[in-house]
Amino acid sequence: MWIKNVHLVDPAQGISGIRNVLVQDGVIQAISTDLDTGEQLSDEQALDGTGKYLFPGLIDVHTHLREPGLEEKEDIASGSAAAIRGGFTGIMAMPNTQPVIDQRALVEFVKHQGERAGLARVYPIAAVTKGQRGEELTEMVDLRAGGAVALSDDGRPIMNAEVMRLALEYAKLPDLIVITHSEDANLALDGCMHWGETSLALGLKGIPSSAEAVMVARDMLLAAQTGGKLHVAHVSAWESVEIIRQAKRQGIDVTAEVNPHHLIFSDEDVTLNSTALKVNPPLRSQEDCEALLQGALDGTIDFLATDHAPHTWEEKAQPMPEAPFGILGLETALPAVWQYLVQPGRLSVEKMVEMWSALPARRFHLPGGSLKVGEAADMVLFDPLAKERVSRDNLASKASNTPFLDQELRGLPVMTWVAGGLKQKDRRIL
Ligand code: DOR
Repeated sequence: MWIKNVHLVDPAQGISGIRNVLVQDGVIQAISTDLDTGEQLSDEQALDGTGKYLFPGLIDVHTHLREPGLEEKEDIASGSAAAIRGGFTGIMAMPNTQPVIDQRALVEFVKHQGERAGLARVYPIAAVTKGQRGEELTEMVDLRAGGAVALSDDGRPIMNAEVMRLALEYAKLPDLIVITHSEDANLALDGCMHWGETSLALGLKGIPSSAEAVMVARDMLLAAQTGGKLHVAHVSAWESVEIIRQAKRQGIDVTAEVNPHHLIFSDEDVTLNSTALKVNPPLRSQEDCEALLQGALDGTIDFLATDHAPHTWEEKAQPMPEAPFGILGLETALPAVWQYLVQPGRLSVEKMVEMWSALPARRFHLPGGSLKVGEAADMVLFDPLAKERVSRDNLASKASNTPFLDQELRGLPVMTWVAGGLKQKDRRIL
């Protein structure tokens, strides 16, 4: 099949321009600027990409799939379908399930369920500590052998600095990156939004930026001391951006991600009952949003990531202090970043694709991230004019805790392929 006359964006190859792409046997066979095959192509042999973009399949380094144990929120099949609808061909699944993914058999279970779903490539992340209790390290070599691509206690901080130091030290052996949920639990205690003028006005308990930044600083020092590999999840505060920038200058082996909601919304959008915007770390000030974007533009922040965190309607219907933290991401993240950042010219389409595809693939040694000749055809066709009203009916996720509910998003992934197999067309799973 030829995808003709499409705007190919492939930062790993330095390509951004109109191309024709030939896919055969699940693999990219050719990329050409002029298409002269000498033969008439049938509809089956050619897809007209005029006015659309072709990206390497997006890779999300931060997804909560909730299986095993929390299937009322999401399961691996529904989460994989949400990924495919959103243009993601690879997703890294966080281990804060019940039970926590802290043993090899559980890592294998997640992988197996991902394969059974047969949609996106599902990569298990295993816990750093047993039960994510922050006390005793997991069997990292064993977890790696079972297919874990990284380690994280995401959802909970590792409060004991010595445990964190040992984690960074021991993770060097299986060559796994430790993904930190950088939060000081004492500073964050019982807060439900960013600590600032809005939290004071609403009378809601706030979580100060320092709750994140002190832990980011601690983890940089420990990474420097051990030479371990670190990835900072969901960076939200300008102070953290500054600390990571300095750490990179010093040659510390660290990467960082930003979630679209932290770039698009601020604490000023939060109201007394906007639980769809309750997320950890919380939406911070507009200055923080600016600093995060600057960090992304200058390479301090490496990846975009969704932190797709499904919760049930009933859980999110509780008052702000009681509702769980988390925002859905997989199906809305790409259209939202397109609409709020790329369209207004604040982030280039090339940078967006690099941060969501090439760079995560390289850092976590995952397939994909580029549509080079010979690579598996994991790709997404993006139509900047396609529109959709986000509704509970059309979301593939079991959950609907998104601030975009009932809003129209413009600019959608309209086809997603994994290894050349078409998995989604016109936002419907095949
Ligand atoms: O908002 C969040 N939700 N932040 C986290 O760190 C965990 C996540 C979840 O698991 O729901």
